[in-house]
Amino acid sequence: MKRALILLALAASAGAHAQKFEGLAATPQMGWNSWNSFACDINEQLIRDTADAMVKLGLKDAGYEYVNIDDCWHGKRDQDGVIHPNAERFPSGMKALADYVHSKGLKLGIYSDVGATTCGGHPGSRGHEYQDAITYARWGVDYVKYDWCDSKGLSAVGAYTTMRDAIRSAGRPMLFSMCEWGDNKPWEWAKDIGHSWRTTGDIYPCWDCELNHDSFARYGVMRILDKQAGLRKYAGPGHWNDMDMLEVGMGMTEDEDRAHFALWAMLASPLILGNDLRSMPEATRRILSNRDVIAINQDKLGIPAWKFLSTGQLEYWAKPMADGEWAVAVLNRGEQPASLNYDWKAHFVSDDVSKREIDFKKAVYNWREVWSGKSGDTSRKLEAKVAPHSVLLLRLKARG
Ligand code: GLA
Repeated sequence: MKRALILLALAASAGAHAQKFEGLAATPQMGWNSWNSFACDINEQLIRDTADAMVKLGLKDAGYEYVNIDDCWHGKRDQDGVIHPNAERFPSGMKALADYVHSKGLKLGIYSDVGATTCGGHPGSRGHEYQDAITYARWGVDYVKYDWCDSKGLSAVGAYTTMRDAIRSAGRPMLFSMCEWGDNKPWEWAKDIGHSWRTTGDIYPCWDCELNHDSFARYGVMRILDKQAGLRKYAGPGHWNDMDMLEVGMGMTEDEDRAHFALWAMLASPLILGNDLRSMPEATRRILSNRDVIAINQDKLGIPAWKFLSTGQLEYWAKPMADGEWAVAVLNRGEQPASLNYDWKAHFVSDDVSKREIDFKKAVYNWREVWSGKSGDTSRKLEAKVAPHSVLLLRLKARG
């Protein structure tokens, strides 16, 4: 009874001036999550080994920071309602695991759900939001992914606001990653609630497929890309459109992996790895640790790219960057190789979000293609062969 009263008082005082923690995700968050590769087959050794691999493979140095445990870590609630991890899978407990991850200079993420049960059928946070936030804070958790299963009858604004307030009152800065699949257009209302919000249902490692289950669908990379139309104006430092976790290294071709990674970088999505870091081929590691691609994602202006031109199977995307620079991606969505013969001067590029423009007739930019290292400038046509399902990714800097 006393505990309940304290929790109620905490809730009321937090409600008065609750805010999300500022200063988290000033650029899109980077890390790893257990779901895409392991689903419910997770345990503390996997999390430790993943943290080790992140350091050893240079991914931490490249900017990856969060090691996130997704669904199915849960045991039961005790008689006071306090949640405990599954004792067989996490015998040392979450505090010890957080300490380990922190000792590597990394951060730990955890998963819960607005409903009484998570998508995997484990205890969700409904009715225990403040209690769970306090538990996570005690464990030393740094990141909460909050799912939308079993949400029937709940207001999305209400449910996510409650958890934001709970995290705030628990007092530990924890990045709040909203996983509501875009059902209630969170981009319109969640800027002050979450640090990122999923814009779609779950991703699937294919180029352009859609996989229909009974009650939900999973989407290939092109399908998710197309669902971002109109959303870029809602994202910015501290509040990102989350295109879901990466499927790089999960069975697509190398060209497809590069294109997927480049597009998530261009659109300023969080970069959360989904592959098994303990057994990663060198080619995958090279893609995921490409400093130039990561720098485009992590640009401090935080403005997502938009598609400024499409011609047949080719799409041209531009991202305004700090210090007057730009990134441009040329995407070949199609099944055939494309011969690119692009006259920069023929297209005036004008961005209605950043209000920036490039007039290639007036200014010449030097460019460098980040996968091949080739360079050139915009006074001449861009000539290249673009393989099917691939991107050219160029960084442009005006000539001084
Ligand atoms: C939902 C989420 C996924 C994952 C699973 C876990 O489908 O969208 O990202 O967290 O639940 O059950």
